[in-house]
Amino acid sequence: MCGIVAYSGKKDCVDFLMNGLRLLEYRGYDSAGIAVVNPIGDIEIRKECGMLHMLEKSLSNGPLQGKTGIAHTRWATHGKPTQNNAHPHLSQDKKICIVHNGIIENHDVLRHELKNAGIHFISETDTEVIPHLIARYLSQGMSMKNAFMKTLSRLEGAFAIAMIAKDTPGTIYAARKGSPLIAGFKDNEVFLASDASPFITRTREVLYLDEGDVLIFNGTSSRLFNVSSGRNKKIRTTRLNIKNLSIGLGGHESYTHKEIHEQPEILKRIIRLRLGNNRNAFQMCFNDLKIPDDFFRSIDRIYITGCGTAYHAGYIGKYYFEEFMDLPVEVMLSSEFRYAKPKLNKNNLVIAISQSGETADTLASILEAKKHGSTVLSVVNVLNSSIDRESHGVVYTHAGPEIGVASTKALTSQVITLLLLSIHIAQIRKEFKRKQKNPLLKEIFHLPSKVVKVLQAEKHIRSCALKYHLATSALYLGRHLNFPVAMEGALKNKEISYMHAEGYAAGEMKHGPIALINKALPVICICTASKTYEKMISNIKEVEAREGIIISLATEGDEQVKSFSHEVIYIPETAEELSPILNVIVLQMLAYYFAKHKGNQIDKPRNLAKSVTVE
Ligand code: M6R
Repeated sequence: MCGIVAYSGKKDCVDFLMNGLRLLEYRGYDSAGIAVVNPIGDIEIRKECGMLHMLEKSLSNGPLQGKTGIAHTRWATHGKPTQNNAHPHLSQDKKICIVHNGIIENHDVLRHELKNAGIHFISETDTEVIPHLIARYLSQGMSMKNAFMKTLSRLEGAFAIAMIAKDTPGTIYAARKGSPLIAGFKDNEVFLASDASPFITRTREVLYLDEGDVLIFNGTSSRLFNVSSGRNKKIRTTRLNIKNLSIGLGGHESYTHKEIHEQPEILKRIIRLRLGNNRNAFQMCFNDLKIPDDFFRSIDRIYITGCGTAYHAGYIGKYYFEEFMDLPVEVMLSSEFRYAKPKLNKNNLVIAISQSGETADTLASILEAKKHGSTVLSVVNVLNSSIDRESHGVVYTHAGPEIGVASTKALTSQVITLLLLSIHIAQIRKEFKRKQKNPLLKEIFHLPSKVVKVLQAEKHIRSCALKYHLATSALYLGRHLNFPVAMEGALKNKEISYMHAEGYAAGEMKHGPIALINKALPVICICTASKTYEKMISNIKEVEAREGIIISLATEGDEQVKSFSHEVIYIPETAEELSPILNVIVLQMLAYYFAKHKGNQIDKPRNLAKSVTVE
């Protein structure tokens, strides 16, 4: 969702800000803008609706220059994606200019108050109250710092804010509560961004702003405050220990395509990291998990939570934990977690799953769990993200940056991590019988090469998608471990091909969705070898009897499924626990080619944001 980039220093910042916005494009946006303090000390703004090239065009018609500036990509929440609603937003006297990520929940009250004081609003956004409020406090005689802090203290909701002001031309102001903001420092320069990618090539000395932090850089030095207490805080930077973010396409036609094809390597990396290289004497390694073993022995219930794809990974994870441990495990959508009032206590383990580590609903679930004394273990891809920092323990998924908005490698890296984690915890609790499960562990080492085989079916999947890409709807059926895979397949299809799709537990079909089946409905049936194979066959027969189009996923050599399917995509034989990983990759490719045949823009589907930082 909205991306922020800002700079203050000795160099002209327009190119840096524009490059930064390009690197944050993956977050999703529908308008963009930039503001600088120009050489004569005025604030100048360019903003446009649509993609970044619109803003570039506007800049080539009216170039900007300045050494202090802010920039923004907006994903519309309050107010349509229009030029007026695009950020940056100015105060009425044009002296205060801000960009904001998040939602100001009490904006109505503040707007009303400001309107009564004679302020005329230009946009429909919640954000615009901020510069007006700051200007109002300034007009009452407050210093810039105090007006900024006072305004922040009145805002309810979530925000990451960067501000420039005409009266303090070389100074940049920033604040964070609930939305990510990172500062980078180098000599007499300060960089701000929603993630470190815009400035990673300029500095690795970074500060992850904490909840309630306010950072002010005046051209020579930076000061950090806490917004509630007003007190000074020591700036403790950390050195980013990562390679320059690999964001090239590497010869692929899109990031989503690249990320689908990265999966064998990522799985190999995770398996080696967690199990070592010795297939006969594996040693589980979860050194990043900073939760004492004793706690795992004492837990009496596990909750798993996440949103979208991460929720589906969690659903598969629930089956792993239940299989290896004698514990109740509940999986809950993070957006429902707080309202469902789970009976949380100190003996509960809450596992939060998130690729970005910034999803607002997942973060809110973590805070809720902590409030009740439960221990939170997160499965996260992005290091130092908000969820990483809020959790008692973290297990990283090591998937590398995921740029495509539709998650692909995020899911498979989460699923394998959850499988290994469930075995690790079961071992600590002495519930995992090594010998009995050794075949599974041995099979895990073969997983990456089997994924390579699945990817070789791409051509076949592509031609299968060509036949059915104009269908208006599709049904995805699976059972047990492959029920969440069906939901994920349907989600991928909806997201990128815009085809209506439902993922269903196959046994539920006859309780309703069977009414939808007709000659025009593709039904994607996950029928690889499993405990529920026979039951799945019966469900497919029900589809056949109603003349639905049967597209099956079956284990290599299965002639039975082939005999009644319109299309079969074969999967190499594997352990049942690993089948979701192989099957979901087929469904990722199927959705990809449905979308491609329709000519959709796959990496940035309409209306979606990569990192959903509002509830
Ligand atoms: O970053 P997160 O894993 O927390 O994101 C959660 C969902 O927003 C995300 O999985 C979303 O559903 C994807 N677009 C699915 O492809």
